[in-house]
Amino acid sequence: MSSHRKAPPSCAIVIFGANGDLTKRLIVPALYNLARGGMLPERLALIGVDHNDKTAEQWRDGLRDFLAQTLAKSGESIDDKLWAPIAQDMIFLKGDFEKDETYSRLSQCLQDIDGKKNLGGNVLFYLAVADRFFGTIAGKLGEAGLVRETDGRFRRLIVEKPFGHDLESAKALNACLLRHLKEEQIYRIDHFLGKETVQNIMALRFANGLFEPIWNRDRIDHVQITVAESIGTEGRGNFYEKTGALRDMVPNHLFQLVAMTAMEPPVSFDAEAIRAKKAEMFRAVHPLGLGDVVRGQYDSGLIGGQQVAAYRKEENVAPDSNVETFVAMRLLIDNWRWAGVPFYLRTGKRLAARSTEIAIRFKRAPYALFRETPVEELDADWLILRVQPDESIRLRFNAKRPGPTMALESVAMDFKYKDWFQQAPAVGYETLIYDCLTGDATLFQRADQVEAAWGVVEPVLESWADTPPRHFPNYGAGSEGPTAANDLLARDGRTWRAIK
Ligand code: BG6
Repeated sequence: MSSHRKAPPSCAIVIFGANGDLTKRLIVPALYNLARGGMLPERLALIGVDHNDKTAEQWRDGLRDFLAQTLAKSGESIDDKLWAPIAQDMIFLKGDFEKDETYSRLSQCLQDIDGKKNLGGNVLFYLAVADRFFGTIAGKLGEAGLVRETDGRFRRLIVEKPFGHDLESAKALNACLLRHLKEEQIYRIDHFLGKETVQNIMALRFANGLFEPIWNRDRIDHVQITVAESIGTEGRGNFYEKTGALRDMVPNHLFQLVAMTAMEPPVSFDAEAIRAKKAEMFRAVHPLGLGDVVRGQYDSGLIGGQQVAAYRKEENVAPDSNVETFVAMRLLIDNWRWAGVPFYLRTGKRLAARSTEIAIRFKRAPYALFRETPVEELDADWLILRVQPDESIRLRFNAKRPGPTMALESVAMDFKYKDWFQQAPAVGYETLIYDCLTGDATLFQRADQVEAAWGVVEPVLESWADTPPRHFPNYGAGSEGPTAANDLLARDGRTWRAIK
């Protein structure tokens, strides 16, 4: 996440999973958006690898058509000046990810294109494939000598989510990748870190003198982090049945939000300094007890006036599935800054609204001055970092209602991104791809971070595997989740903010 924009070095980008959804929906549109900002490498070749038959022209035209359809939604058409540097050298390699022969052809192809375009031997390998292929592809690239960095050339690997499905598999995957690549060659993506509002948490905390002095247990009562979705499984029943809400969202996306909020200030904006602080924070998380976690699964219900089906009725979902679509937890961080300040986390599908926010509740003012005001009416101050949608930062505090009496009311000051900044078209992958091309790993996860995060949820995964839930489904679609999630906070005398 550099503050200076520089053109990345010329290189080839090899996309494994060239025919997949990720390539057409996110990677190629992100490259196009980088082209708008003049942030593509001067010379670029795009090589797609996948197992089905396709010519380079078919691949290119398919991607172009999809991009055109997407742009058309905002009344735009493709600008050929921007598309040309992406499309100029597009190569499609049909190949089985598990066969050596694919990699010898890829090696030849890289040599040829480098000879033609002078790419300095630089290659970014993007694993936009199902996670079962991550280890295989990295291993085969290693054996074929394709990830060796010699003569100043870079060879980097982007690994998508999910990175493992528990602590053991994450460790095994890390070990496998690290057999062939150095840590600094591996870029583990968590797309939440590509969100501007998430990156801005660091700016808010560390570029202002105002917040950091109050960012601790002396002033903060608790933190609520919500990642609520109104969508269901969206045809991903097969994937979701193996994953569930905890694995899908918590050790990655939610924990990244926790880390951004709770990490200690790094000594610099250097990737290693920031990642070390995040890993340190994860190590300070208090082991989760079973009473600290609640799971749920949605029943049918109404969303936006539309009747939607229960999870168990979704496509490719078992009619007696016990997979959770909601999880809430109470997390404690055992360090000087946060001791005694609970972080309440929740995420779920088919909730009342799509809403991702970090809400920081400050301690109440000593109310001696307002003796006439019952304490329950004197609202505490909140700082709400709204990640999506309606990206904003809101400060809620008490003000005097005009009139002859000292009556108080909670009011708000808002900073809305759209009021201050012109929104550049973005799919959320631009910064991540650009950073990888320029070798900046700040927004990517290091091996120890990933393992520490899995380590936190591991006891819950283990115990859930042994104890099937008794009351699934336990929340209606369109609601705010199961009542047990409310009980989790009620025990501490607190309530969740409304999901809206
Ligand atoms: C993905 C999960 O990683 O993140 C999905 O697999 C989830 O289940 C998605 O819907 C949420 O991301 P975003 O950017 O739409 O909030």
